[in-house]
Amino acid sequence: MTHEIGTSRRPDRDLAVVIGAGGMGMAVARRLAQSYRVLIADLDAARVREAAATLCAEGADATAIPCDITDPAAIAALGARVGELGGLRALAHVAGLSPSMADFTTIVNVDLVGAALVADELRRRATIGSAAVFIASLAAHNARPTEELDVLLADPSDQQLPQKLADVLGEEATPARAYELSKYALIGFCRRQAAAWGERGARIVSLSPGLIATPQGAREFERTPAKKALYDRTPLSREGTMLEISDAVDFLLSDRASFISGTDLLVDGGLAAALRWHSA
Ligand SMILES: NC(=O)c1ccc[n+]([C@@H]2O[C@H](COP(=O)([O-])OP(=O)(O)OC[C@H]3O[C@@H](n4cnc5c(N)ncnc54)[C@H](O)[C@@H]3O)[C@@H](O)[C@H]2O)c1
Repeated sequence: MTHEIGTSRRPDRDLAVVIGAGGMGMAVARRLAQSYRVLIADLDAARVREAAATLCAEGADATAIPCDITDPAAIAALGARVGELGGLRALAHVAGLSPSMADFTTIVNVDLVGAALVADELRRRATIGSAAVFIASLAAHNARPTEELDVLLADPSDQQLPQKLADVLGEEATPARAYELSKYALIGFCRRQAAAWGERGARIVSLSPGLIATPQGAREFERTPAKKALYDRTPLSREGTMLEISDAVDFLLSDRASFISGTDLLVDGGLAAALRWHSA
């Protein structure tokens, strides 16, 4: 454990992996960098290098790794890098595509299949006290899949999953449906994985943001007018901020949350509750 003069390297600190260097990913990385060394991963190589450089310029110990989470070879390389850096203490999986960003198949592959690949690889790098948070969505809480879809969604390691889902959904195989079903299945996946992570003394949870002020969120407001109706029904009468999501992620990954596993935390200003229990 040697300090490199002139750098903010902190080899004494545990490692946090952040997947996704977009708006929310960067906010989470910045927060976690206050307590951990950070390894940040993203498909966009230029973006992730810039993210790590920015964090280092602010005094963090951050390293970038370009990584396509839908590519098993890239995921194996990510796992190897985590091993070289001393193993996993914390994982924040933030990368994801919203409905306006891609087609049905790509959204299922990134938001569900890719997330499960990350979880399976990094679980092997987890140890006593490790914890993982996967960012799902409020949209998952209204997905209501049929029993047939539910069975398919329970196996995100199936490479044919997007096609099988599309076959069942027919004309309903839209990007919006891909998004809500993927996030729904991600929540179920984290619940089912709690036992496997527990065998290593580690925890896994999902976090469902409601409407959060991010560039991705703003884009959805522009392209999906129905989102304004959800905004109007949010009990706290505003969007959440990336800082509020980062706070919750930081808590869930910390020892203060040491008995929380296999569950989902809604951070939505009460919107899911209002939709369920308060008529408009
Ligand atoms: N903003 C909201 O209101 C809101 C609400 C609910 C959930 N969410 C969720 O929050 C997360 C969004 O975070 P954000 O604001 O940082 O979004 P963002 O669009 O700014 O960033 C997403 C990042 O994911 C990366 N990515 C895309 N495909 C990838 C792949 N195959 N491999 C690796 N990286 C890939 C992109 O390059 C990008 O940097 C998503 O999971 C989204 O579904 C957002």
